Amino acid sequence: MITGIGQLITPQVQGPELVVLEDCYIRINEGRIAALGPLEEAPPLRGRKVLDVEGGVVLPGLVDPHTHAVFAGTREEEFLRRCRGERYTSGGIRATVAAVRAASEEELYRNGRHFLLEMLRSGTTTVEVKSGYGLDLENELKLLRVIKRLNEDLPLDLVPTFLGAHALPEGKGSSEYLEEVLAMIPKVKSAGLAEFCDVFCEPGFFSVEESRKILSACRAAGLKLKLHADEFQNSGGAELAAELGAVSADHLLKVSDEGIARLREAGVIPVLLPGTPFTLNAEYAPARKMLAAGLPVALATDFNPGTCLINSMLFIIALTVMKMGMTVEEALIAATRNAARALALEDRGVIAPGKLADLVVLDLKSYRQISYFLGHDLVKYVLKRGEVVYARAHPGLCQD
Ligand code: NIG
Ligand code: FE
Repeated sequence: MITGIGQLITPQVQGPELVVLEDCYIRINEGRIAALGPLEEAPPLRGRKVLDVEGGVVLPGLVDPHTHAVFAGTREEEFLRRCRGERYTSGGIRATVAAVRAASEEELYRNGRHFLLEMLRSGTTTVEVKSGYGLDLENELKLLRVIKRLNEDLPLDLVPTFLGAHALPEGKGSSEYLEEVLAMIPKVKSAGLAEFCDVFCEPGFFSVEESRKILSACRAAGLKLKLHADEFQNSGGAELAAELGAVSADHLLKVSDEGIARLREAGVIPVLLPGTPFTLNAEYAPARKMLAAGLPVALATDFNPGTCLINSMLFIIALTVMKMGMTVEEALIAATRNAARALALEDRGVIAPGKLADLVVLDLKSYRQISYFLGHDLVKYVLKRGEVVYARAHPGLCQD
């Protein structure tokens, strides 16, 4: 039982509203929400394990549906050059590819563990993780095996995505590498190491035509589809995601009105990643246009060693409110229920009977303070399937 909840906030299971309940309890049974309601209607506490959250704000565990969280090496020099005006190029991805090829599975595991636990401490309980820094069969499988082990060992759920088509590897032509990726797909599928397939569909990386070939083969193999679409240029990525029935289309900084309409018709979830334009000093995705079109906008960090080192969904929610004109209510729905939908998951992202008891407790008086206290240490508890997996401590002299 969780008691002492000052505010419980949750998206509706269906519908556009964020529901806010004050002074309530949640009963958990076998990792799922069993009941919730006003404190005075709570069942007797005797004999139950009780967590009193002392007036905190409780929300669904945050879902991060787009990351590149397992990699080796760092790229601070490239980052600092970009801060002084240099443009982003594919050279950065290749630097990480070289580091990943040289790294052992153990090293990749340790790096991934570090960043994923950091994400857990900031309230994220489900994370999509892409390969894409191997760019050959052996190293793509190596990354996907590490993601599988991390998923088994850490108290958060990882959703694995095959991103063999992230960039052209050094010394390979585009048609040669296209054939190589197509040959990887059945092997990745039969190893059972990926649920989704993604392509970096962008002029200079993979064209719409090439992306269509790769994603169609993935779909035929039984993988669900995602797409890095219309990030730097409007190249028809959103339209391709709609045509292929992708679960999500991600980035969309340069999506056209036509692209937005197609996503809506096809039921594709737009995943917006404001940490990337923030880092790259670029324009943000037209979030208000998408909301006006009735699209269920989702949010993610895009955490990766090149274009966005932000791995906190709370930070992303704040950026969304400050930079994309979304309300804090819209941003919270986007980071929970809609983010889960971007991973084709219906069992989380909402606090309702039957859903997973993945919960975050924030040390705030009101959820309306979430984007206001940007960068503060707000997370008091994280629960995964009903278990407390993180509790904030104020050691020694720092106690307040
Ligand atoms: O989502 N856009 C493509 N891939 C990443 C960047 C990866 C990197 O630079 O290492 C992204 O921004
Ligand atoms: Fe990405």
